Amino acid sequence: MLRILRRDRGTCLLFGALLVAVYFFKDCKDHKTFYLQTVTKESHQTTIKNNSYVYSWPRCQKNMAPATIRGFRYLQEKFQDFLYYQHCRHFPMLLDMPDKCGGAEESADIFLLLVIKSPPENYERREVLRKTWAKERLYNGVWIRRIFIVGTMGTDETKERLNKVLELEQREYNDILQWDFNESFYNLTLKQILFLEWMERNCPNAQFLLNGDDDVFANTDNMVEYLQSLKDNNGSQHLFTGKLITNASPIRWIHSKYFVPFQVHRSRYYPPYCSGAGYLLSVNTALVIYKMSKSISLVPIDDVYMGMCLAKAGLSPTSHEGVKLFGLSPQKLNDPCFIKDKLVVHRYLSWETYFMWQKIHDPDLNCSTSKEN
Ligand SMILES: *[C@@H]1O[C@H](CO)[C@@H](O)[C@H](O)[C@H]1NC(C)=O
Ligand SMILES: *[C@@H]1O[C@H](CO)[C@@H](O)[C@H](O)[C@H]1NC(C)=O
Ligand SMILES: *[C@@H]1O[C@H](CO)[C@@H](O)[C@H](O)[C@H]1NC(C)=O
Ligand SMILES: *[C@@H]1O[C@H](CO)[C@@H](O)[C@H](O)[C@H]1NC(C)=O
Repeated sequence: MLRILRRDRGTCLLFGALLVAVYFFKDCKDHKTFYLQTVTKESHQTTIKNNSYVYSWPRCQKNMAPATIRGFRYLQEKFQDFLYYQHCRHFPMLLDMPDKCGGAEESADIFLLLVIKSPPENYERREVLRKTWAKERLYNGVWIRRIFIVGTMGTDETKERLNKVLELEQREYNDILQWDFNESFYNLTLKQILFLEWMERNCPNAQFLLNGDDDVFANTDNMVEYLQSLKDNNGSQHLFTGKLITNASPIRWIHSKYFVPFQVHRSRYYPPYCSGAGYLLSVNTALVIYKMSKSISLVPIDDVYMGMCLAKAGLSPTSHEGVKLFGLSPQKLNDPCFIKDKLVVHRYLSWETYFMWQKIHDPDLNCSTSKEN
């Protein structure tokens, strides 16, 4: 009897394990994230053999512990939410492109990968970027490729309709990475980390990245020329450059867009960082940032977080003259001769982006005197 029971328990365990495997498999397929991967020490995978795994991240559970932090109940809901989910770093992928870079090995063919943060509803912006500065093309002998990184928005039907739109875009353009997390300003850091994780897996040999918002104007011709001019860096050395911000402190004024309560981030200063609207970095540096991020808690401001990762690695961001994000007069913004030799400017409406891209490529554009004013 005892022996039978024991055997039964063994069978039960075996069945249990099988059920779990089937469950994971199904879950993976549902989320289109079924792939084999070699990773070393992550907790959520089911082992198949040696060090290859089938995995899908179970939905990350709310962590109630922050509720006991002093002053927690006076925080705005979005910060409470941030703290509840701060530990979550893995979300199922809804749209993936494992072959975007031609496979990890082939990814060396990509010189500049444009990584553009775009919320699901910004369909129009993506369409314009696809035909303007983010066009996939060969320029000066090297490849420019494009990826939009996207979360989800809304609930139920709206969420599903937006997801459907993204799916259609994906079918047509193959340029979207989407994860199943709620888009919000405070989830941008999460978006960055999810992208870096993807990049390490699928595109580790590309050379440079532009990381930016979908409402900037990026002069990608100039970017390629600038990056090609770096004689001792083909992407395998450190580079992180943009609109440099130094000596900044967390903003404790509750009405600011950048307000961060001390319960969320305690330190009195931010390390140097580049504004997240648009910066250039080498893939080498991106991989270092990802590595550092594994031991730094998420903070809600994504560009500050990048600065924290750089600081931890002992690397510095630098300032690039061509990145102009604040305080430009409308005259400057509308002057193609001014834009022609910049790298990134901020910010344009969709039609303005379209207009300016045509304008700076107009063979009749004559900038010979306008430099003086
Ligand atoms: C970030 O996304 C997660 C997953 O969807 C969500 O639970 C959380 O509320 C979001 N955080 C913020 C601050 O919006
Ligand atoms: C995402 O946000 C919606 C409300 O906008 C909320 O109903 C839903 O529970 C959130 N999802 C997660 C996973 O937090
Ligand atoms: C980049 O330069 C390093 C030396 O700094 C070299 O080892 C590597 O092969 C180069 N990579 C490419 C893709 O040219
Ligand atoms: C460009 O403009 C300047 C001054 O307006 C003029 O002198 C020059 O001839 C123009 N060049 C061309 C190629 O039209």
